[in-house]
Amino acid sequence: MSAPVTQRPSALIILAAGAGTRMASELPKPLHRIGGAPMLAHALSAGAALEPARIIVVTGHGADAVEAAVADIAPWAECVRQDQQLGTGHAVLQARTALADFDGDAFVLYADTPFISEATLHAMQAARERHDIVALGFHAAEPGRYGRMLMEDDRLVRIVEAKDATPEQLAVTLCNSGLVAGDAATLMALLADVGNDNAAGEYYLTDVPELGAAKGLSATAIICPEAETLGINSRIELARAEAYFQTSKRLEMLDNGVTMPAPDTVHLAFDTHVGGDATVEPYVVFGPGVTVESGAIIRSFSHLEDCHVSTGCIVGPYARLRPGAELANNARVGNFVEIKNAQIGEGAKVPHLSYVGDADIGAGANLGAGTITCNYDGVMKHRTTVGTRAFIGSNTMLVAPVTIGAEALTASGSVITEDVPAGALAVARSKQVNKPGLGRRLMDRLRAIKAGKEQ
Ligand code: UD1
Ligand code: MG
Repeated sequence: MSAPVTQRPSALIILAAGAGTRMASELPKPLHRIGGAPMLAHALSAGAALEPARIIVVTGHGADAVEAAVADIAPWAECVRQDQQLGTGHAVLQARTALADFDGDAFVLYADTPFISEATLHAMQAARERHDIVALGFHAAEPGRYGRMLMEDDRLVRIVEAKDATPEQLAVTLCNSGLVAGDAATLMALLADVGNDNAAGEYYLTDVPELGAAKGLSATAIICPEAETLGINSRIELARAEAYFQTSKRLEMLDNGVTMPAPDTVHLAFDTHVGGDATVEPYVVFGPGVTVESGAIIRSFSHLEDCHVSTGCIVGPYARLRPGAELANNARVGNFVEIKNAQIGEGAKVPHLSYVGDADIGAGANLGAGTITCNYDGVMKHRTTVGTRAFIGSNTMLVAPVTIGAEALTASGSVITEDVPAGALAVARSKQVNKPGLGRRLMDRLRAIKAGKEQ
């Protein structure tokens, strides 16, 4: 991340009060997720490029839930309420008291416009050196309902909302993204003068350039790629935003040296970290909180969340790593294996058909096919410890709490309820009995019964 381009302190004002009616959702719009994180978190992370001294989130619709999310994502941010949603200008004005003692620039961002790049924010900052007000625009493929930016050379004369525009103004394709920057006190003073005499009856933030011009202040527009201004108002747009996020994140991973033969099939989270020269095979899903170190291989159809995979590990195909799975170097987790809240030691192997939960598996241990840690008694969870180089026979039930010593063995099919000392062999299954000839006699009798019925 490059440093902000000015010494002037910045404050972010993130608008998150709108109703988001078109989402048709009980969940407030800023909390809908992209790459596993609320879109508000993406907006906050985009704004971090400015290294803001203050962050004000304007909440309204679903304020309690949005404020709880802010406290979780960015506890240093402040929330101010907009009790009635009277327009974007009115929303920004709610931050006036909070920023009364703030000497610097305010940057207005929308919680539902999460992909503004660092380069764009820095370009806005640079433009502030020459102009009092800087708004962010883009050339829209379909200008539709966007506000239109009316320019004279590099001067932004006015932003006219589509609802209020003449046919000639509607023909303008330079559209308003909604982002605007200016000295905080100046912006607030201008907003205090904004009226609501317009088609929507709202207090428009977009009136600021024109009101500024009347006071001798200059305004300009910075232009960014349309994709960055992607706003989310409906589920369709949310799905499009997810696709945009996924594509960008995949490209970033490929650039960082990750091998992905079929990147379009790999689903990533906002914080997925995969080291260089790691391989992610087709159809892998990453939930939040996953770190994969260099050189590890994640094979097809695996699902990982909140886990850590170290160098040299091979995971999958068809593996599931749940929260708290910690794989040390060169560990192996094979097909149809689920690991939860468990450490798998260096070089340890869980190759097939196992559930390992609440466990510590020692270095070099081998868990045979079908090994299960019985960690839950219906009320509480208990831990299983397997010592270094222990060998757990296929289909062993490890009934926790239980400890298997280093280099101990368990016989296949054992139900282990007591600790096994280091180096011991535990056999916990009934002894086999062979009854000579009985198998064939039984089958003959059954066949005879069946033949009798068919007659
Ligand atoms: C706004 C701009 C328009 C621009 C478009 C880009 C105005 C008047 N218009 O229109 O020029 O092209 O965004 O998407 O600014 N919000 C509040 N409180 C309110 C109203 C809105 O917090 O009272 C928040 C919303 O939650 C949203 C953002 O402000 O995050 C934008 O509001 P929205 O109603 O979507 O504005 P548009 O009509 O799309
Ligand atoms: Mg909008």
